Amino acid sequence: MSSDTRSAIVTGASGGIGSAIAAMVHEEGFALTLVGRDPAKLEAVASTLSAEPGPPVHIVAGSLADEAFMARVVDEHLQRYGSLDLLINNAGVAGNRAVGEITADFLDEQLAVNIRAVILLTSKCLPLLKEAVQQRKSAQVVNIASNAGKRGEATLSSYSATKFAVVGFTESLHDELSTSGIKATAICPGLVNTRMADDYRDTVGPEEMIAPSDIAEAIRMTIRVSRSCVVPEVVLLRPIEWRQPEGA
Ligand SMILES: NC(=O)c1ccc[n+]([C@@H]2O[C@H](COP(=O)([O-])OP(=O)(O)OC[C@H]3O[C@@H](n4cnc5c(N)ncnc54)[C@H](OP(=O)(O)O)[C@@H]3O)[C@@H](O)[C@H]2O)c1
Repeated sequence: MSSDTRSAIVTGASGGIGSAIAAMVHEEGFALTLVGRDPAKLEAVASTLSAEPGPPVHIVAGSLADEAFMARVVDEHLQRYGSLDLLINNAGVAGNRAVGEITADFLDEQLAVNIRAVILLTSKCLPLLKEAVQQRKSAQVVNIASNAGKRGEATLSSYSATKFAVVGFTESLHDELSTSGIKATAICPGLVNTRMADDYRDTVGPEEMIAPSDIAEAIRMTIRVSRSCVVPEVVLLRPIEWRQPEGA
């Protein structure tokens, strides 16, 4: 691999949005570390990408709820690629539940994956992102939030709270790091056609949902803009969705 090849970590790369992002980032010429829990699904994504010409693809399987696993991800990426140009915190879990039905297990999984892992993995990747800035003058963190991180919705309160936190964390990253060459971007999609949308299929057809490739294309734009341009947030909505309550 050439020393100017950029590299990326994509979490949740075995899933709908994550595998679309991984394909786009590989097309853009990044060497990859793909992260998810299910090794077979990760291997399937990696072999599809490796069948195309391009930089190497590495997988690391485990749970991002585990801090030691996050450290392993960063270490394996460091051993292979030496620096990190792009961290995409995409892994997430959701669930519909009325407030009175929320249990500690339900809440703790969402907090662990949707926000704790985003903050801790970013923190652990910072030395590698700084190394990429030294080598190639810029690096980027992309956090997949949600439209639920812009507007609270009935039965999605705990998920929405974690995604508001992702938006807040990304704004803080932008404020703290953007002048050092590390850009931070929050992506806030409405309903996307993945298994996470399964609870909505009775009322919303797949053709009415945002495509995973739409999210990948929005991220492609944030990667391609010049070093002097940061895209701090992208909101992607279906035509009937809006991020503020009606009448606000
Ligand atoms: N679909 C939507 O409507 C929508 C809308 C807005 C935002 N989002 C956000 O987009 C992101 C991707 O979601 P998706 O729609 O692609 O859902 P998905 O198909 O369910 O994919 C979720 C991904 O996260 C991974 N993951 C979950 N828990 C994990 C853990 N503990 N450790 C490591 N990886 C874990 C899954 O890996 P394994 O399956 O291998 O465990 C999978 O790769 C999420 O952050 C989600 O909140 C989704």
